[in-house]
Order: sequence, then C-alpha cells, then structure tokens
Amino acid sequence: MTGPPGPPSVFEATFGAPAQAQGSAPGRVNLLGEHTDYNDGFVLPIAIPQRTQVAMRVNDLGHCRLHALDLGQAVTFDVDGPAPEQHFATYVQGCLAVAREAGVAVPSLDIQVASEVPMGVGLSSSAALEVATLRCLRQLLGLGLDDVEIARMGQRAEIEHAGVRCGILDQMAASLADTSRALLLDTRSLERRFVSLPPQSVVLVVDSGVPRSLASSAYNQRRAECEQAAQLLGVASLRDVPDALAVETLPEPLRRRARHVLTENARVLEAVACATAQDFGALMNASHASLRDDFEVSVPALDRLVSLLQAHPDVFGARLTGAGFGGACVALCREHALAAVATGVLEAYARSGGRGSVLVPPLETMASAA
Ligand code: GLA
Repeated sequence: MTGPPGPPSVFEATFGAPAQAQGSAPGRVNLLGEHTDYNDGFVLPIAIPQRTQVAMRVNDLGHCRLHALDLGQAVTFDVDGPAPEQHFATYVQGCLAVAREAGVAVPSLDIQVASEVPMGVGLSSSAALEVATLRCLRQLLGLGLDDVEIARMGQRAEIEHAGVRCGILDQMAASLADTSRALLLDTRSLERRFVSLPPQSVVLVVDSGVPRSLASSAYNQRRAECEQAAQLLGVASLRDVPDALAVETLPEPLRRRARHVLTENARVLEAVACATAQDFGALMNASHASLRDDFEVSVPALDRLVSLLQAHPDVFGARLTGAGFGGACVALCREHALAAVATGVLEAYARSGGRGSVLVPPLETMASAA
C-alpha cells in the first residue's frame, strides 16, 4: 500500500477534512538474535513487505480522535489522559505523549491508521505503528528527528505506555530496515550495516495459528532473569560476559537463560560471515533449540511447525521468531521452492491438528514466487 491509509477520501469522509501528513513503516521478521537486544547484544532483522500507514491533521477539539480503518474502531483520547481501553490506541497515544515529554508541542489531532502488518504474531505490528505515527508527526510538524531518534521514542512509548520492557530491535527495524537485505544491528552502540541473504535463499514466515499467551508478563520475567544473571556475574549486561564458561556457575534457570543469550549473540555474528544458506540455516535451527530448551519461550505447536519446516528438503533452517510463546516461525528456503514448501508444510501441520498460514511473502506475491 502506498499513500495515505485508504483513499484520501476515507480520511476526509471520516474527519470532514483532508489529511495534512502521512507516514508509514514496515513490520519486521527477525532472522537471528532473539532476546539479545535487552542484553545489549546483536540482532538480524529484515523488513517485511507489509506496512502500517498513518495519516493526521490538526483538529481544534482539544482531544485526539483515532480511527483504525481495518479494525473498524474509533477511539477518543487526550495525549496526557488515561490510556485508551483499545490496546492499539495506547501505542499511538504513547508516541504522542513521549514526543510531548521531549518538548514537542503536540496539538490535538485526527488520526487514521491502516495496517497490513499481521498483529500478535511476532512481526512487530506495534513498532510499525509507533514508527509510522512518529514519522507522520515529524512530517506534520516539520520535526528534525532522525530515524534513530524515532526508533528510541517508539521504544519509550512501548515501555512506558504499553508496559512491555522491550529492547530496541523492533523499532530500529521498523525505522531503518528494508526488505531486500537483513540489518545487522549492535543494540548497544546502534552501529549497523546491511547484510545480503545467502545466495539462492528467500524468507518464508508461517503463522502457527497459536496466539501468543502471557507474552508480556513472561517477556518481562525473562528480561528480569537476564538482569539477575548479569548482576550475579558482576557485569553491566550479558553482552559483557567474557567467556561462556562463566555462566556455568549460575543457579538454574539463570544459567540456561544466560547461555542462550551468549550462544545467540555468537550465532548472529557467525551468520553474517556465512557463505552458504546451509550454514546460515544450521544457525537458525540451533537458535530454535536454544530458545526452546534454554530460554524456554517456545510452545509445542511452534516446535511442531519448526520441525516440519526443518525436515523439508528445500528449507535451509527454521526457528520461532519474535518473543515466542506462540505466533510465527521464520524459515530460510530455497528460492523457487517457496510455494511448494509452504503448501507441503502447511498440509502436514494441518494433519497434526495445526492451523497455520503463510504471512510472508504476502499472499498476493506468493503466486509469482512459485
Ligand atoms: C519482542 C521485543 C524485542 C525483542 C524480541 C525478542 O519483539 O519487542 O525488543 O526483545 O521480542 O528478540
């Protein structure tokens, strides 16, 4: 989708006047580097084709009106007021509140959102909404914010207003990644560079059909465990553990949590030096095992789907992606075999009682990938 959400007339039909600014941002799929970002580690996301669009105009009502086109929901809120009941609206309100705290004179606004990014599956629909909102605000008010500042503000909105103590992975990906190459990001220094996918390989994202449960509470708990492990080891963050043997002295489950973070960081750095899709895929498989056994953020349905993907001859590697606890899996597949992999794996998954679906590439481009 390009341009403002829906035809411009939709904004005008909703609010009685045309939009004055628009912004958009993509969702992301993380190829490697899971639960490393809040440990100052390395991540390797790539943007997905699906984007979120936001359009705005200043109103003179003294409060904001927000309309979500695809959800068919209309919400009214004050930037500094209580959090709206509709969860998606807290991200928008949070971004405006963070901007205001940063000294931006945020007026009352009419806002329309339209999103193609699948929600609640680990593809960062919330970061896409945050970054699109802040980009739109930047355009509306002519703010001198760069893409990293936008990512940081989106992350603050998520932590302070949505209550998830997330790292910077999602917002940096929504703000800086593109769909053609992966983004290697050092989440401590924010140094980054683009990295090509291995030759003759493409990314496939499949939803397990299992909604993420307890995602934010279990997520915050994992983060607290990592912080505790770092404290016991006397380092600022797990990124600073000099040697993998050190974690062996930790009590369980901290030992396994820390081991995941250390081995996952190593996998990201190894992956960007990989010459072949086979080697890259093996690192994805190892990442899944580590997320399942050491970090314990998988669920049986994800394990089943990942095993089916890994067993397919045209798949180089597969793993759960995002925070875990349900949601989607990512696989690196042989180019030209995408449609066959998707069909074969989804049929086998259905026979085991699962109800999966392909999320990336988006359905309309699947035919050309066959
Ligand atoms: C969520 C968070 C990210 C990151 C991932 C796990 O997407 O928002 O900051 O921690 O989980 O890698």
